[in-house]
Amino acid sequence: MTDKFARLSIDGSDEVTELPILSGSIGPDVIDVRNLGSTGYFTFDPGFLSTASCESKITFIDGGKGVLLHRGYPIEQLAEHSDYLETCYLLLNGELPNKQQKAAFEDEITQHTMVNEAMARLFRGFHHDAHPMAMMCGAVGAMSAFYHDALDIANPKHREISALRLIAKIPTLAAMCYKHHIGQPFMYPRNELSYAENFLYMMFGTPCEEPNVNPIIAKAMDKIFLLHADHEQNASTSTVRLAGSSGANPFACIASGITALWGPAHGGANEAVLKMLDEIGSVDRIDEYVLKAKDKNDPFRLMGFGHRVYKNFDPRAKVMKETCDEVLKELGISDPQLEIAKRLEQIALEDDYFIQRKLYPNVDFYSGIIMKAIGIPTDMFTVIFATGRTVGWIAHWAEMVSESYKIGRPRQLYTGATTRDYQDIDKR
Ligand code: CMC
Repeated sequence: MTDKFARLSIDGSDEVTELPILSGSIGPDVIDVRNLGSTGYFTFDPGFLSTASCESKITFIDGGKGVLLHRGYPIEQLAEHSDYLETCYLLLNGELPNKQQKAAFEDEITQHTMVNEAMARLFRGFHHDAHPMAMMCGAVGAMSAFYHDALDIANPKHREISALRLIAKIPTLAAMCYKHHIGQPFMYPRNELSYAENFLYMMFGTPCEEPNVNPIIAKAMDKIFLLHADHEQNASTSTVRLAGSSGANPFACIASGITALWGPAHGGANEAVLKMLDEIGSVDRIDEYVLKAKDKNDPFRLMGFGHRVYKNFDPRAKVMKETCDEVLKELGISDPQLEIAKRLEQIALEDDYFIQRKLYPNVDFYSGIIMKAIGIPTDMFTVIFATGRTVGWIAHWAEMVSESYKIGRPRQLYTGATTRDYQDIDKR
């Protein structure tokens, strides 16, 4: 209930429609337009520039101030003191776990990391040069064919089991995408390893050797997962919610999120950053590319710069930059591509075009550089983003399904042909 209203008079009419103003716990108030349809009008907001599509208690972003909170906790504090699985528990359950809850959750995840052996046969159907994201969309969608014992979305226990299965099995599937791509045997998960260590082992290990994961790399990997865990109603999460609003099963919903993530304006940006650095090729060509990015007649954009919501800085990028510096220093890596990245960052941060439009390096700029430094191939970057984001998708899906919800059904402004009569083919 509210006592605040926006008053809408259409085209100077005396008839005023009162639209309730709703307040969240923090953040801007919203005008509730749910009943506007009764006036015969709809709102028009392509790209959801001014539309809150749902109510949520999971993540809060203040893009102007560069704030990102998960269940109220600032991302900087989680990145410093927490780890990925603890953050998963927080996102799913609303509170940080105590020691017993944390141990039990980690144990549950560890017990679910293997996938049905038939999944290996599914992968064999993919051509070896299939993009890992293409395999990932197919493999995650196919999971609903294997786990029908817990697909009743109205049953909270089933929802919990599906959430655990997804978080546990996604790294296994992600590593399988890579192994299939390079023609190496799939690696079974190892229960004695942490979540990030296990993922790196399944990616880079072989049956010929014992696991040998560099702890610095494992720490960086865990941070990459943690910093990607959730980001409220972005394109892929909104896709998961929309798919879920029809009552689709969680594996199918997460597969739809993966498809939305793939594009270069969203999760595909980390891969696009490296492709761009490759295209630039050397530090002395940076100016040319900065000019291209500023040219309105050129579709080229600096990948890894700008964000729909953050118009000050991306707090994840700040943490990621620190991790990036740490990893590069520890591994003693000197790579001409990384030199280009550093120089590009510096130029863009000082250039008026980027300053005026508040275009700062985003999380994908630095995550791409770290992943390149730790030897992850470029076409796996978005798969890794998807791995970390799975918990966010599933938390939003579960939040929606556990409350009353309606199927998502936007309206449109139709500008096509008006009614006309069918013409026989020889009269056209
Ligand atoms: N390079 C050059 N110019 C840019 C860039 C860029 N990367 N991003 C935005 N602009 C310009 C744009 O041309 C426009 O200029 P003007 O006002 O003169 O017409 C202005 O900045 C506003 O751009 P917009 O397209 O209206 O902004 P948006 O909020 O719709 O787009 C974005 C946000 C992230 C899609 C965009 O900044 C972009 O394409 N960035 C590159 C891709 C990228 O790094 N994406 C990852 C986002 S972070 C990870 C995630 O959440 O998935």
